[in-house]
Amino acid sequence: MSTFDLGAEAVESALATKRFGRAYVPLRECPSTNDHVALLARQGAPEGLVVSAETQSAGRGRLGRSWHSPAGQNLYVSILLRPPCRSVEIPPLTLLVGGALAQAVRQTGVNARLKWPNDLLVEEIGNGPAQAGAAEPRWRKVAGILTEAATEGERVLHVVVGIGLNVNVEEFPADLVTKATSLRRVTGRTFSRAHLLASLLASIEGAYDQFLARGAKAAIDLWEGHAHLGQRCRAQGTHGEVEGVTAGVGAGGELLIRDADGAIHKIVSGEVIPVD
Ligand code: BTN
Repeated sequence: MSTFDLGAEAVESALATKRFGRAYVPLRECPSTNDHVALLARQGAPEGLVVSAETQSAGRGRLGRSWHSPAGQNLYVSILLRPPCRSVEIPPLTLLVGGALAQAVRQTGVNARLKWPNDLLVEEIGNGPAQAGAAEPRWRKVAGILTEAATEGERVLHVVVGIGLNVNVEEFPADLVTKATSLRRVTGRTFSRAHLLASLLASIEGAYDQFLARGAKAAIDLWEGHAHLGQRCRAQGTHGEVEGVTAGVGAGGELLIRDADGAIHKIVSGEVIPVD
């Protein structure tokens, strides 16, 4: 067996968790690991179930975007959660997983930071085309999280947290080439996906235990600890476009932006655009 595959044996032998990943379904291909977990959730699968895929034919991201899912190189995984919380607490839960993902990536020695709500960015330093043009950003997206919940009124039936992490991929299609990167592109190293997955699950399990004990505060602390606060940006607020600096996240998981007059604006959805 190759060190780099995501088979049950490779992942189980690397796993240090109590619950997360103990039920594990590695797939060669599926439309979306989020859909597969949702299906198993409806059939009564336990919290902590993890589904991975070598490739996805219809991987999706936030805001209706698709998720580039080339075969055999990256992590496409979804985790089933059954948090005893109300639906309003789901956005902080998403931030929590982002913080745990940042933690796991930083453990590989890569400088990573979170962009609201759940993009993980890493710095490309003199490796690849990032230095070639002044207009190209140095901080590029290496991972994203898509959280999808089944609710009944305020009650949460289950939550599926899907993570796409660009691990060993080197080439991106034209529309992503200036925006996305991979751990391999920023380090020149090839990573064991099984070990990365095990480390990610350990980080998420630890963070989730904190969430169960402390609620949204645990999520906010973890997310803010890995975010780049003070970043100039613009975003769509409830009363129109807002420009200012990122100041943290609120109790409901919304981004707080402080404008030039010191007023705080809450951003609850959409895209946050960095301003240089
Ligand atoms: C984003 O950045 O917009 C979120 C991307 C989430 C992608 C992952 S890959 C595994 C899981 N399955 C999906 O279809 N999407 C998520």
